[in-house]
Formats: sequence, C-alpha cells, structure tokens
Amino acid sequence: MLDFPPYANWAGFGSALFYVATLLPTILRVVFPSTKTTSIPKFLLTQRRLIGLMAFLLSIVHGYWMATKRELDLLDSQTYWIYCQGIFTFLIFTILAITSNDWSVKKLKKNWKKLHQLTYLAMFLLIWHVIDKMWGHWTWLTPFALLMIGSITLLSLIRMMRARSKLVK
Ligand code: HEM
Repeated sequence: MLDFPPYANWAGFGSALFYVATLLPTILRVVFPSTKTTSIPKFLLTQRRLIGLMAFLLSIVHGYWMATKRELDLLDSQTYWIYCQGIFTFLIFTILAITSNDWSVKKLKKNWKKLHQLTYLAMFLLIWHVIDKMWGHWTWLTPFALLMIGSITLLSLIRMMRARSKLVK
C-alpha cells in the first residue's frame, strides 16, 4: 500500500510539476512540431517566468518543511551529503529564478543561455532525489512524480539528439 502524501511532499510535487511546465513548450516544439501552434504550449511559453518562479517558491516551502520535519542540523556536513541532490536542485532553481529577467538577459548576453542550460542538470538530480529519498516508502504521489520527471527527461534527450543530428547534416 502507498502512503498518503504529507503537505511537504505535495509542495515538492508541485515544484516539480511547475518545473516540468517550464520545459514543456520548447521540448514539445522540437519533438512534436505539430504542437507549435496549439494553445497550451503557447500559454506555457508566455507565462514561463511566472511558472518558474512558482516552482522556486514551492521548492522553498518543500525544503523548509522537510528540514524542520527531519530536524536537519545545517551545521553538520553529513546533512549536505545526505540531501545533496535536493540542495543542488534548489541552488539551480535559485540561480534560474534570480536571472529570469530582461536585465540579466541583457547583462549576461551569451552566458545567459549557457547558465540556463543548468535546468537540464536539475532534471537528472531531481530523478535521483525522488528515487533516493522516497526509497521504500512511496506515497501515491511518487509514481506520478517519477513518471512526470522521467518523461520530460526522455523527451529532452530526444530533443538533444535531434538538435545534434541537424548540426551533423
Ligand atoms: C528544487 C528542489 C526540490 C524539488 C523539486 C523536490 C521535489 C521532491 C519530490 C517530488 C519528492 C517526492 C514526494 C513524493 O513522492 O511524495 C521529494 C521528496 C523529498 N524531498 Fe525534495 N525536492 C527538492 C528539494 C529538496 C530539499 C532542498 C530537501 C532537503 C531539505 C528535500 C528533501 C526531501 C525529502 C526528505 C523527501 C522525502 C520525503 C519523505 O520521506 O516522505 N527536497 N522532493
């Protein structure tokens, strides 16, 4: 039997959901070009910054609840080792949230795109985070979380392969 998810898990799931929503429009456009003109990817693209901000805010709530629930000692280096995937993902979300504005795009120029490639690293860290932290005590949110993050990772790998084969041609 799967456990009922506590609020902290809902916040983590919500954060992952909004994060996936920021990636969907670009990935869908390349992998399924016919979706380019459909309304949902168009809407997600126009609201991307707001959706990314929601992902960031929910990750703060999730991280804070988990830290208090598990009484994490922030002065103990073991804590950073045990929660490294969550902490790294959170750092990436923070960098992306801080630089998701016109001023940063202008200031960072080409480096802005490079910096925002970090979003793809977050994908792998997040799968690792959920598998590792939920091992042996899945809630009924866990299969949906893994399916959602796993699917977006697979689609983004297909997207990268397509982009690479276009470069070779
Ligand atoms: C961007 C950051 C993060 C995202 C998107 C995220 C997302 C998630 C998701 C989706 C789950 C699985 C929930 C479920 O299946 O019920 C989870 C579990 C968990 N996360 Fe995070 N997380 C993030 C950062 C963190 C951080 C910084 C910490 C450390 C304090 C943390 C601690 C945990 C723990 C302890 C669990 C297991 C909960 C349990 O045992 O019930 N997460 N997270």
